[in-house]
Parts: sequence; C-alpha cells; structure tokens
Amino acid sequence: MAELVPVETFDLIIFGGSGDLALRKLLPALYHRDADGQIPPASRIIAVGRQPRERDDYVTDVLSVLRAGLGGLEADQWQSFAARLHYLALDALDPESWQPLKQLLSGHEDRIRAIYLATPPSLFGPVANGFKANNLMTPDMRIVLEKPVGEDYQSACAINNAVGACFTENQIFRIDHYLGKETVQNLLALRFGNSLFEPLWRREVIDHVQITVAEELGVGNRIEFYNEIGALRDMVQNHLLQLLCLVAMEPPSSLEDDAVRDEKLKVLRALRPIRAAEVKQRTVRGQYAAGAIDGIAQPGYLEESDTAADTETFVALKVEVDNWRWSGVPFYLRTGKRLAAKHSEIVIQFKPVPHAIFSEANYATVPNRLSIMLQPDEGVKLMIMAKEPGPGSFKLRPVSLDLSFEETFGVRYPDAYERLLIEVIRGNPALFMRRDEIEVAWRWIDDILAGWADTKLKLEKYVAGSWGPAASFLLLDRDERAWQAGE
Ligand code: BG6
Repeated sequence: MAELVPVETFDLIIFGGSGDLALRKLLPALYHRDADGQIPPASRIIAVGRQPRERDDYVTDVLSVLRAGLGGLEADQWQSFAARLHYLALDALDPESWQPLKQLLSGHEDRIRAIYLATPPSLFGPVANGFKANNLMTPDMRIVLEKPVGEDYQSACAINNAVGACFTENQIFRIDHYLGKETVQNLLALRFGNSLFEPLWRREVIDHVQITVAEELGVGNRIEFYNEIGALRDMVQNHLLQLLCLVAMEPPSSLEDDAVRDEKLKVLRALRPIRAAEVKQRTVRGQYAAGAIDGIAQPGYLEESDTAADTETFVALKVEVDNWRWSGVPFYLRTGKRLAAKHSEIVIQFKPVPHAIFSEANYATVPNRLSIMLQPDEGVKLMIMAKEPGPGSFKLRPVSLDLSFEETFGVRYPDAYERLLIEVIRGNPALFMRRDEIEVAWRWIDDILAGWADTKLKLEKYVAGSWGPAASFLLLDRDERAWQAGE
C-alpha cells in the first residue's frame, strides 16, 4: 500500500449532505480516510441540507449507511468519525439561513475550508455567492462542483461565470470521479511508466480504440433527472471523453498542476465535430426495453415510470481525433444502462502483421490487442500470438498475458472519492476538470445533440440484459470490426 500522508486540518462543508451521493459515496470515503489516519483530529465534516433535523438523527443515518456498505465497524473508529459530523439546515437562497453556518465556522478561519456542492447545478452559483456575501471567504479555500456542470455549453459557461465571480480557477474543483479511479490512473502508469507502449501508441501501429462503459443498473429513482439528461450528457460528456483523452493525449511533462489538463484539452479540441450530416453514420441512440439480467426480469425504461420520456439510455459513437498521432484511427465509444454486465474496458486494437510467414491454413490471423479493464475486475491483458506446443506442425494460437491488479497487489481498491477528496483538501486540482475542458467538451456534445434533434434520429430499442441495440454492432460492422469488451 502506498504511504499515507496526513492532510492539514480542515472543515469540509457538504451541501446536499443528506443526499444520495453524500451518504453513499462521500461519507464512506471520508470514513476510510479517517480510519487510515489521514484526517487530523480537529477536522470537521459539516453536512448541510434544506430540511431541519437533529444532528443525532443524521449521525444515525450515516451509521446505517456505513454499516450497510462496510459490514461491521470498529466502535472506536466510528466514535471518532461520528464526533466530526455536524448537520445544519440551510436554504442557500435565503440570506437569513446562513447564520448557523457562520457561527459554526467563526474562529476557524485559519484552517482549510472546503465546500462540496453535491446539489443540483442551479445552486452552484448561489452557494458560491453565499460564501462571499456572508464574509465566509478565507485564505485557504476551495469549492468542489459535482457533475453535471450544466447541461450544454451555455449553461456550463453560466455556472462557470457565477462560481468564477467568487473563486479563482485553481480553487474550483470540478469532479469527474472516473479520474479518481485507481485503474484510470493506472492508465497513466501503463502509458508513461513503461517505455514499451509509447513507441507503439500511434496510427502506424494501432488500428482502432474501443472504450466501453457498460452498466447493469437502470436509472432507478433518478428517472426525472435522467429524462432531461440522457446517456450522452450523463456519461459521454465527462467520463468517456476523459478516458478518451487519457488514451489519446501526448505525454505530459509531469503530473503537476496543469500539465495533464493542457494535454487533455488539446485532444478535446482535436475531436472532429459530429453534426447533423454525420449523426446517422457515426452515432447510435438506444433505450432499454424489458428483458432479463442474470435470469431476473427487468422492466423497460418506459415502464419504470409514467413520466419516462424518449431519452437515450445507450450511446455508441465513432469518434475521430484529428491530429498527426491519430489521423485515421477511429475511437469507438459506447455506454449504456441495463446491459448484460457491469463492465468497463478500453481496448487498443493493433494492426495485423504486415506479411504472413506462417502457412495460412495453420495461422489464425489475430492481431494483437491490449485490454485495460477498469471495472469490476481491474487489470491489463495483452493478447499475443504463440505457437501451440508440439513437434509436428507450426500452429499459432492467440494467448493472453493476463495481469489482475487485485491478485498482484492484494489490497482493497479505494473508491475514487477517497483519492479525490484528499486531493481537494491538499489543494491539488490536477485530477479535476478545468473550465476550458468542460466547455470544449460541451461544445462537441452540443453538436451531436443538435444533429439528433435536426434529423430526429431514431431511438433504437435494446433488450435489457443484452449488449445494446443492433445498430451499435452495425456501427463497427460497417468498418469490418467488432466490439471486443464483454462479448
Ligand atoms: C455517474 C452517472 O456519473 O456515473 C451515473 O451519473 C452512473 O448515471 C455512474 O451510473 C457510473 O459510475 P461508476 O463509478 O459506477 O462506473
């Protein structure tokens, strides 16, 4: 396990403190960091919600969520974590209701003050402004914006302007939790900690790249939100484009400050727009219909609620990165809900050998493939050709060099939020999205959305528990290729 360096004393104020994200992700992440001794004794976690409630009730809720997720808790450990928790009711839009927070923070101006906005984006500007208007700004401050930062380019700019009027860019941490996942960071280790891959990481050797983020879960109780958002905005604008950036970017000069973000931005700027004339050829919109996963019947999206709309729960795209390294190398992206399995994987498909010296009859021509498995089984597989053992003929067979991170390192994989929350406290924004990244990504997504609207692109149905609509397979089939992950 890597060495754990404690952070400095902080107050973390979580808006949306009794919401799903706070209870399911943020508090368990903080609990783990605390249990590992990374959080100094005087640090406080101040949950803020709109509903008035007793602190003890809130603490009981946190305890039951932690128990459900972690099983048994060490009594001492829980007591010391619980002692950090506070709960305050606050309506960001009501100036009067800031008073209790002001009181609680008063006298603690010298410690790190971090604000986490696990709220709808419409509150990002008002909360940022509330800190300024109530004289709660301190020298060592940061604000975290949970995704989505807006729902298109214009709304993202409006949020960035409103928050930017109160905080400087390096105090603003726009979270994409995929950047905190261990295996996503391992992608950087794989590419830049080894000399083996970088010379091959280019158009001359790579045929195409596939990025799959498949989920088994449906939209659950988020249907109202999801109706408005859909998979393109919910998953592609952020998680899949960030993965694409990490695969496609040039080597940064370091991991510090803006070096990686500068390189990611160049990739986003090089994405070839997909406009109305291309959406039919290069995009697929899907929605799950009733089906079954692991033998259990699942309703279709439209059956999940009376209000369910014609929203896409699946997207597949053929993306071109217009630069010297990637010209002519398509990146196929797909993501969907209620697919056959939770499975995220990046596949780097190499070109075939230029000339076959083995007899065609015995030689199944399978080009090399590097698979980076992100979840649930983290690891790397390199598919190479090997000779079948035996003195007779010379027969080749594809075999896999298989590395499972869990088996190799034998440790618990920390949740992405554990890493990201610590980076927030340390004030290191390198793993967070910069304003320009978000805005360039939205512009590219807006073109696709406009193309879908202009052409009224058909919503393709797929059976829950499958790997998506037939049109997604055709997207690759047309190029004489096929999806590899999970099939
Ligand atoms: C979130 C999306 O950002 O990521 C969800 O809003 C999605 O719709 C989730 O389910 C997937 O995250 P993970 O870590 O489970 O792959």
